[in-house]
Amino acid sequence: MTNRKLIAGNWKMNGSLAANEALLDALLQGVGAPGCDVAVCVPAPYLAQVQGRVAGSPIALGAQDVSAQPQGAFTGEQSAAMLNDFGVRYAIVGHSERRQYHGESDEVVAAKTAAALARGITPIVCVGETLAEREAGRTEEVVKRQLAAVIHVNGHCISEIVVAYEPVWAIGTGKTASPEQAQSVHAVLRAQLHHAASEHAAGIRILYGGSMNAANAAELLGQPDIDGGLIGGASLKAPDFLQIIAAAR
Ligand code: 13P
Repeated sequence: MTNRKLIAGNWKMNGSLAANEALLDALLQGVGAPGCDVAVCVPAPYLAQVQGRVAGSPIALGAQDVSAQPQGAFTGEQSAAMLNDFGVRYAIVGHSERRQYHGESDEVVAAKTAAALARGITPIVCVGETLAEREAGRTEEVVKRQLAAVIHVNGHCISEIVVAYEPVWAIGTGKTASPEQAQSVHAVLRAQLHHAASEHAAGIRILYGGSMNAANAAELLGQPDIDGGLIGGASLKAPDFLQIIAAAR
């Protein structure tokens, strides 16, 4: 089974009203009728701006996080219902930067996954090992533990999530996992999904993220279990992001 690929940009904490306008102008001009699904995951203050610009285009809107809580005294957080108000289709959950700088545990990531699913938002659940974990031979154990936490989210079908394998050592470092390294972890994740939900496993998209760029995208995306990309730095440069989209078919 070949999944329609998903190329999602993660703008992280970058952009401004003016910079976003310029980036979106170029993306909307160049995207055409893409052979893959496309999304941009933008900082929360820009959801309204980007919603207005991508409406009616092939570019879907994504958020970079979602609260595990439905509402209330949680200063600084955005609920899934609020994201619904802006037509948000995807929410990144458990990015390594949230795990590292905000202490998000597997349990929190699972609760956020459930909160997104409950509101019809597709969570892009990130897993990935640090360099120390890889060097200690613990890659499989770490990613399997992280994926296991979200596999049985109450009342929802695992087929509604997107998984992103993002080796922490490859994020923003220019050091990409080789296609073979990435494929071997993707195959582990696929097998785990198969074990948990055999009838859905083949259809669950597993994205690769970590220094994916215009030059290396085609080879990574050519691997059998790589169903798309979660792109940081290169998603801020329209020509690069468009080339990655073109490589995904
Ligand atoms: P880079 O593409 O900048 O390495 O970032 C990857 C990432 O963290 C996407 O979520």
